[in-house]
This record gives sequence, structure tokens and C-alpha cells, in this order.
Amino acid sequence: MLTVAVLISGAGSNLRALLEAASVPDYPARIVAVGADREAAGFAHAEEFGIPTFLVPFRQFGSREEWGRELGVQLAAWEPDLVVLSGMMRLLPADLVERWAPRIINTHPAYLPEFPGAHGVRDALAAGVTQTGASVIVVDHGVDSGPILAQERVPVLPGDDEASLHERIKPVERRLLIDVVRRIATGDIDLAATADAASN
Ligand code: GAR
Repeated sequence: MLTVAVLISGAGSNLRALLEAASVPDYPARIVAVGADREAAGFAHAEEFGIPTFLVPFRQFGSREEWGRELGVQLAAWEPDLVVLSGMMRLLPADLVERWAPRIINTHPAYLPEFPGAHGVRDALAAGVTQTGASVIVVDHGVDSGPILAQERVPVLPGDDEASLHERIKPVERRLLIDVVRRIATGDIDLAATADAASN
């Protein structure tokens, strides 16, 4: 059974989907803890499923590195096999990424490498594209630049605003995330091999 820690910053709707998937007995992963950089609304989902939470408030630390050190201590206490960034809207410091790589993955609401960063949906709309997408990637030292594990196109429809487009992307993200975590758990995805191939 693959153990997973999930990091969030916001509503945690993708977290909830993963919690629901992981509560099905034959799903090969379980969530052991949910952490956040702020009082995230998504903690309510973890609590509903009886999953422990931990808060490492970014604003209480003098630097990203200090915050990352404490986040690393909290994460390590749960000894997860995999760390999932699911709407964690802070860049992790390099040594934390180093510590977990390649067992750290991220979901992103765009078809990477298109529209990386904190505003993937807004940037796609601003670019006037007719399709964008959802991606699940391995986290590396760049911004949404790691190896792509799964991605799928999502159409941009006339009249879309950021909220409507994001709501169309999220169900795709959820499906991809649940499938990627399952495939990591079963060995169908080999994160080490994926990261090696990307660095060669
Ligand atoms: C998701 O769409 C996730 O991909 C995005 O934040 C949303 C979180 O929603 N993350 C990023 O944009 C990271 N660059 P949720 O809190 O409802 O799951």
C-alpha cells in the first residue's frame, strides 16, 4: 500500500477526490496526512475522512528556506512514500524538493509546458487559445517544469471566464491524479526511471 501525504493551499477539491478514491478498499494508496501553508478550507475534507492535518504557516517564517525546513520535518514524521502537491500555491525550497525527489508530484490546470505558474487558467484565457488542459508532473527545481506523467486537453469555450474554465479543468485533473497515484502504487509508473530519463 502506497502511503501519500498531500499538500494544499485552498479549497482542496482535488484532495477530496483523492480521499474518496483512496477510501475504496481496492485502491492501492492511502492518504496518511494533509498539510498546508495556510488555514486552508480543504482541511475540512481531511477531517471528514479522519486524516490528520498539519499547518506550517508560511507567514510565520522569516524565509522560504526556514518554512521549507519545518514543512520537511512535519512531512517526514508521516514517512509517506509519495508527496502530492494538490493546489499547494507556494514554491518549495530546493532542499525540500531534493529530499523527496522524485517521489513528489504536482497537479497543474494547463497542458504543460504551456502556461506554467500560479495562473495557468488565467494565462490560457489571456492567450486566447481554444484549448488548454490539465497535467500531472514530477516536481523538479523549476516552476512546473518536471517530467509529465499524464495530461489531457480541455476545450476553452466562448464566454468562458477563469472560474468556468477552471471548473471544466478540475474534473480532468482529478481523474488524472487518481490514475497517476494508482499507477505509481502498482509500479506501472516508475518515478525514478521517469526522472532519470528526463535528466539524460
Ligand atoms: C487545482 O486546479 C490545481 O491544479 C491548482 O490549484 C487548484 C487547486 O484546487 N494548482 C496550481 O495552479 C499550481 N500551479 P483545489 O484546492 O480545489 O484542489
